[in-house]
Amino acid sequence: MAKILVANWKMNPMTAGEAQRIFDGFKNKSSNVKNVKTVFCPPFIYIDQLKKSYTGSRISFGAQDAFVEDSGARTGETSPLMLRNMKLEYVIVGHSERRELGEKNSLVAKKVKAVLKNKMKPILCVGEPARDRNGAYLKFLKKEILESLEGVSRNDVKNVVIAYEPIWAIGARQAMTSSDLHTMTIYIYKVLAKKYGRKVAGSIKILYGGSVTDKNAGELVKEGNVDGLLVGRASLDAETFAKLAKAIQ
Ligand code: PGA
Repeated sequence: MAKILVANWKMNPMTAGEAQRIFDGFKNKSSNVKNVKTVFCPPFIYIDQLKKSYTGSRISFGAQDAFVEDSGARTGETSPLMLRNMKLEYVIVGHSERRELGEKNSLVAKKVKAVLKNKMKPILCVGEPARDRNGAYLKFLKKEILESLEGVSRNDVKNVVIAYEPIWAIGARQAMTSSDLHTMTIYIYKVLAKKYGRKVAGSIKILYGGSVTDKNAGELVKEGNVDGLLVGRASLDAETFAKLAKAIQ
C-alpha cells in the first residue's frame, strides 16, 4: 500500500511564485520516489495554480479546512462543494491550530460529514495537548476521536484518514518517539474497532504529524506503524521534503 505524505503548508509561503517554486522543486527532486502518494495542502489561494501546473498522478491536492455547508451567505468561508468541483481529493479537518481558534469536536464532526458528502477524504486531526502520568491524555484522545466522528457511518468512515498529532510535538524540537507512536496507533485502532468493528477499523488509515523531518520520517513510519505522515515545516523546503518522501518509500 502506498504511504500517504501530506504537506500542510499552513499560512505559507507569502507569494504564489514561491509556492510554485517549492512545488516544482519537490516534483523534480522526487520523480523517482515510489509507493508514496504526496498530498499538497497549500493555502486556498494557491491550490488552483499548482493543480493546473501538474498533470501526473503521484501528487494530489487537498485543502486545509472547509465549511460545514455547501452554500449560503457565509463571509470568508470556503464551501466543500467548491473544493469538490476543483476535484480535490482531501481536506484537513480539525487541525489543532483551528481547534485553538475555537473549533469544537461537534463542529469538526459536521465538517467531516460535509467533506464525505462531497466525496472527498477528510484528514481528521486529533491529539492530546499534553501528557500526564495518570493517562488522562488517553481519555482525552478517545473522546476527541469519538466526538469528531459522531454520526459518521461504518461505510463512510473507511474514507476518513486519522492524523494523530500530539499538540506538544507540533512545531517542537522533537517528534514523539517511534515506540510511543506505535503504542498510540494501537490505542487509536482499538478506539476505532470498538465503535466500527475490527475489519472497518483496520481499513482506516492512520498518519502521524508533529515535527517530522527527513531524519526521523523513515523510523516513525516503520516502527510507529503508521500509514503515512502529516508534515508542516519540513514540507516547505523542496529538497528536505523530497528526502523525506524517499525515506518512507
Ligand atoms: P510540524 O507541523 O511538522 O511543523 O510540526 C505539523 C502539523 O501541524 O500538521
